Amino acid sequence: MKTFIKDLSQKVGEEVIIKGWLYNKRSSGKIAFLEIRDGTGFIQVVAVKESLSEEVWNEIDKTTQESSLEVTGTVSKHPKQEDVYELQVTGYKLQSIAQEYPIALKDHGPDFLMDNRHLWLRSKKQWAILRIRDVVETAINEYLHLESFIRTDSPIFTPNACEGTTTLFPVPYFDLGEAYLSQSGQLYIEAAISSVGRCYDFGPVFRAEKSVTKRHLTEFWMMDAEGAFVEHEENMALQEGLIKHIAKKCLAECVQEFAILERDPEPIKKMIEKPFTKLTYEETIKKLNEMGSDIKFGEDLGNDDEGLLTKDSDVPVFIHKWPKSIKPFYMKIDPTNPDLVLNDDLIGIEGAGEVIGGSQREDDFELLMTRIREDGHLDEKDYEWYTDLRKYGSVPHSGFGIGVERMVRWMSGVEHIRECIPFPRLVNRLKP
Ligand code: 4AD
Ligand code: MG
Repeated sequence: MKTFIKDLSQKVGEEVIIKGWLYNKRSSGKIAFLEIRDGTGFIQVVAVKESLSEEVWNEIDKTTQESSLEVTGTVSKHPKQEDVYELQVTGYKLQSIAQEYPIALKDHGPDFLMDNRHLWLRSKKQWAILRIRDVVETAINEYLHLESFIRTDSPIFTPNACEGTTTLFPVPYFDLGEAYLSQSGQLYIEAAISSVGRCYDFGPVFRAEKSVTKRHLTEFWMMDAEGAFVEHEENMALQEGLIKHIAKKCLAECVQEFAILERDPEPIKKMIEKPFTKLTYEETIKKLNEMGSDIKFGEDLGNDDEGLLTKDSDVPVFIHKWPKSIKPFYMKIDPTNPDLVLNDDLIGIEGAGEVIGGSQREDDFELLMTRIREDGHLDEKDYEWYTDLRKYGSVPHSGFGIGVERMVRWMSGVEHIRECIPFPRLVNRLKP
């Protein structure tokens, strides 16, 4: 019977068929050990020449790395290792013999691997990261529904900026001039909350940002959540709940993946037990200065500052109430200080850096118009539909956006964000 490798523990003693690819092979001439993968996992397959027909042995013998195949065999427990299973071959069929595979099971340089991303995805570590990404995305959808948010997606072609005009990707759009690829669907889900109360979008967003770092993509996936009648403190509580939910799901479902990636789960286990730290922007600057950074009030935090701030911390840090001068127009002014806004950046531990950006939104029509005019780069006309929302039953509301790849990078413990999305788009990479 056709079986997935992940289900073999339930089939000890039975004869099964596995369809997959050859990952690795060792052979003494009398006995061959094939490592086979089928997408759900990896298994060692043992073929003993003596007990097989000559035809079957020859097929096994000529199987090259990454050839596709179908193997029939009896499931047995590994003689020495707990929770490890093997297959004793009884039948074998080659599906398609692979040419010499360019990615050998040794170290290659990153450029070579990136050029071969379409093949590199099959490697064990990349397989593990893809699976962690799936768990992260599923956990996000799950948590939002638990908190009564529903999914209402946003457009990718947009007529105006959400996150500043300097990082827009323009696209020619028929007779209507230029469209821009969305930087975040936030403004659109702000409209949708007046219909459904709490909602979120989940999709690719684009930033024409020339940042060549281990944390920046030009195309990445974002989940924007927005809630009517949610204010600043509740907004941060939702973000904390989301991060903890993702972390718990990864701990429960990615044991094998963490082992492959040599990712120590202990820091994540510790993190979910404790409340996250909250520091105002002002407190953050003070603390960083005490720790030796020369950052000044009014400046954005760099990668080094984020790392320094969280280096001895078991839990992520909310930096909230930033100067309005360095944040977007839609953020609500802090009623206790007109120079600050009711926003937060959530900085993960273990060098994760900023994983979430969120804020309470300006819900007063006149104040919002003032912010748009003050910005200096925005055309009021482009935002008419958005400011309209403040005319018809405006409510206090808040939301946040999480960068999926930043979260995958943190959970999987890999260094570079390019490995956290199947086909990364970077300033200097568009292929494959
Ligand atoms: O902080 P950002 O720019 O916030 C927004 O776009 C808001 N409109 C979200 C909202 O309130 N609904 O982006 C949100 C998150 C960041 O915290 C980071 O995790 C990720 O998106 N991010 C990037 N990830 C990869 N590459 C980039 N170039 C990123 N820029 C932001
Ligand atoms: Mg941000």
